[in-house]
Amino acid sequence: MATTPGGYPSSPYTAEFYDYIVPYRERQDVGFFVDMAREAQGEVLEVGCGTGRVLIPTARTGVTITGLDLDESMLKVCRTRLAGEAPDVQARVTLHRRDMRDFDLGQRFALITVPFRSFQHMITVEDELAALASIRRHLAGDGKLVLDLFNPSLPYLVDETRLGEFGEEPEFTMPDGRRVVRRTRICARDLLTQVQDVEMVYYVSHPDGKQERLTHDFSMRFLFRFEAEHLLVRAGFKIEAVYSDYDRSPYGAKYPGELIFVAGKA
Ligand SMILES: C[S@@+](CC[C@H](N)C(=O)[O-])C[C@H]1O[C@@H](n2cnc3c(N)ncnc32)[C@H](O)[C@@H]1O
Repeated sequence: MATTPGGYPSSPYTAEFYDYIVPYRERQDVGFFVDMAREAQGEVLEVGCGTGRVLIPTARTGVTITGLDLDESMLKVCRTRLAGEAPDVQARVTLHRRDMRDFDLGQRFALITVPFRSFQHMITVEDELAALASIRRHLAGDGKLVLDLFNPSLPYLVDETRLGEFGEEPEFTMPDGRRVVRRTRICARDLLTQVQDVEMVYYVSHPDGKQERLTHDFSMRFLFRFEAEHLLVRAGFKIEAVYSDYDRSPYGAKYPGELIFVAGKA
């Protein structure tokens, strides 16, 4: 099991590859987060901002946004990308290296988002509550939290084929000519603690013919809808909406879909 949440520091190539991975490039969530940010009419905090996949398009629309992430290699990619943006976009962004379980930025935000399952790197209830307490301290009185989880699919959770490598993703090519194919493997799953140990496997073909197999190991906890609702209420939030997709279709409109909460302070 990865000892650092997310396991990113032990595999810096994940940060390098991240923005080229086809399913990440094609995620349909950016418009949703940009719209939520514009509707908030105030400053936004993105928890687990990574390489800025959501943060940078948000800043481009005129929103002032702070990004927080634990992993320096992800933040480094984000800073490099930002350096290529217009000066006004750069001026609207602040980045902090912090652990979501314990941070104090000395500021409150109109909207706090945790996109793309970053919260699921909290693998114990104590960590989940600690992260939610830190988030709540930073939320303005009428501010909103958007918590974006995957909706656990019962068939996937018991699918034995996922214990071997799976996932047919298109190959991607890095600027230096390396060609990369990514596969996924569930190394272990604990149905009682709801934690899966995941391995991302990168098969890298170098232009000189050298072949490499790189792995990124991390643990993720899955939460069911009502558990997450109880958790949020226990942490001092009230649920305002539960969506199954980034088009704001209600929870249950598709299966498994996503599990996206909009919550305010109770
Ligand atoms: C799947 S990426 C999502 C990045 C970005 N939000 C996006 O949508 O592309 C998960 C991010 O969560 C970060 N992360 C994991 N554990 C964290 C923690 N305890 N505190 C802050 N960030 C964390 C990782 O470093 C990584 O950048």
